[in-house]
Amino acid sequence: MNLVQPRLVGDDPIQSSSLFELIANDVIDKGFSIRPYALPENLTDMLLQHITQLPDDYFKRAGVGRAKDHIINDFIRTDEICWITGNSDAGSAWINWAGELQGYLNKRLFLGLFSFESHFSHYAKGDFYKKHKDAFKGEGNRVLSVVVYLNPNWSAEDGGELVIYPAKSSTSDIIDESKVTVTPNFGTIVVFLSEEFPHEVLPALRDRYAIAGWFRLNTSIANNIDPPR
Ligand code: OGA
Ligand code: MN
Repeated sequence: MNLVQPRLVGDDPIQSSSLFELIANDVIDKGFSIRPYALPENLTDMLLQHITQLPDDYFKRAGVGRAKDHIINDFIRTDEICWITGNSDAGSAWINWAGELQGYLNKRLFLGLFSFESHFSHYAKGDFYKKHKDAFKGEGNRVLSVVVYLNPNWSAEDGGELVIYPAKSSTSDIIDESKVTVTPNFGTIVVFLSEEFPHEVLPALRDRYAIAGWFRLNTSIANNIDPPR
């Protein structure tokens, strides 16, 4: 019996599409997907190297809300973020990978994902992000959230777990109380429907690096352009 989880290698298009297929099936079955050791190792390495090289002042305190409603709130979240652009090799490799996932999920799930935005996040010791949703029904913006972790050798004592709370069922009054806890380990990918799942980041007890990204619908109408972010 092989207890070691096979590593999905993303350079190989066949294996990469088998990962995308697993993610698609998870999203269909449960609305979320948790895949350990899934992001291609060379990409995860590049991203970790890049993030540790970024000057500290590239990271800004993360706020809550968009544009004019953006506020810093120490009670909700205390992490720092840096938006990812294609201006670095690591950033553009990541954006390409996310684009392939987007294309696959659009073909498979007809989600109509149109654009992608993502940032690095850094939680220093003690940092957290209280229970929240990434999007609210009717706002028609963020459809699918993706999180990947860049922390080699994360252990149980390091805290910083992602807790995903069950979605409220529209067909039943019974709420499934089972929450899911994810260790922010190197290469783990989490994908979930942004409007459905409240989630939180428990206080990290050491530096915790991740990427959080969102696929959005095209919500531009006529001259009212609504770009990401
Ligand atoms: C977020 C978020 C989860 C994580 O940035 O919105 O929920 O595990 N991140 O970092
Ligand atoms: Mn979130």
